[in-house]
Amino acid sequence: MTNVVITGTGLFTPEHTIDNDALVASFNAWVDTENARRAEAGIEARLAHSSSEFIVKASGIHSRHVLDAEGILDPERMRPRLRERSNDEPSIQCEMGAVAARQALEAAGVAAADIDLVIVGCSNLERPYPAVAVELQAELGAGGYAFDMNVACSSATFAIETAANAIRSGSARRALVVNPEICSAHLNFRDRDSHFIFGDACTAVVLERDDLATSEARFEILGTRLVTRFSNAIRNNAGFLNRVTDADPQALDKLFVQEGRRVFKEVCPLVAALIGEHLQALGFAGDDLARMWLHQANRHMNDLIARRVLGRDPSEQEAPIILDRYANTSSAGSIIAFHLHRDDLAVGALGVICSFGAGYSAGSVVVKRV
Ligand code: COA
Repeated sequence: MTNVVITGTGLFTPEHTIDNDALVASFNAWVDTENARRAEAGIEARLAHSSSEFIVKASGIHSRHVLDAEGILDPERMRPRLRERSNDEPSIQCEMGAVAARQALEAAGVAAADIDLVIVGCSNLERPYPAVAVELQAELGAGGYAFDMNVACSSATFAIETAANAIRSGSARRALVVNPEICSAHLNFRDRDSHFIFGDACTAVVLERDDLATSEARFEILGTRLVTRFSNAIRNNAGFLNRVTDADPQALDKLFVQEGRRVFKEVCPLVAALIGEHLQALGFAGDDLARMWLHQANRHMNDLIARRVLGRDPSEQEAPIILDRYANTSSAGSIIAFHLHRDDLAVGALGVICSFGAGYSAGSVVVKRV
């Protein structure tokens, strides 16, 4: 069987940051204005303030990177302001993808022309077609073929499995997986329950047939396992049929909506079982893992999942957290953790990259440092 290795990763981090205090100040200013409007209109129901203490305690998030902080923090707008691009300019996701991809290619020592497959996997694509991946393929000068896929927060692990299978089957020798997440554009910054949870970022991963790889620091993919189970607990109803069903395009269900507590309860056991069974199928146990690069949505979720898999509390090194400064960057989260926290692993060390999110969907990629 052909061995597939990850030989390089890249990360695009937007320059703008918003800490909890700034986000909460903007939210609370909007709440005060809205409550004054309600009082004047004789509406009894009042909105409650948000708080930085709650955000840190409930999620572990302190700050996030975003493409545009000003539009988000303006209490009269509360959404990023991004310039519409003409058809002759690179699209926004192509541009952020190119930054992460070039880093990953350089780390792998691979020329763009030697890539046979580009997959753009993310929760939200800025248009239905032409695929952002095909645009990115042209922008980079990559060969072969390219396509977009969306499995929400699990897009990266699902794309890694797809790319690894393409390499194993001989359809591609080298593949590039890119995850441009502009989560700030689908977030309702006026929803107290969720206004703090997302940030923007883009990651990239280069996968190669082992016998072609030249990079020193490789991670062999020992196996991938994916699972989906339908749930409405995380949902976004934006879509091309909104126009013909005469749905209100500004309605709040056309943005990210979740029942956070239910997601927490239902997804943690699903993910712990996925990793445990995947390890077992590969002949390993939880404590064989040197590292768990978990999806980054909520610190407590990660602690709970790691505890179930390892059978004890994880150390900070074993299950690194990046959501404190990136928040939830959807499919990019587990890859950011992998990008930033793998260099210290010794040859032979085992790790798992694991994503989970809407669908529900979850993906496990077990790797070994070689
Ligand atoms: N500021 C202050 N208080 C807030 C608040 C805010 N921004 N948002 C909610 N609260 C209050 C609620 O009103 C509630 O008060 P009550 O107990 O008096 O009714 C209390 O805090 C708890 O609210 P709850 O929504 O149950 O919080 P939680 O502990 O479940 O944390 C999440 C919320 C979103 C952080 C958490 O549920 C989560 O991360 N879930 C998983 C989400 C996930 O992984 N999603 C995947 C997305 S891809």
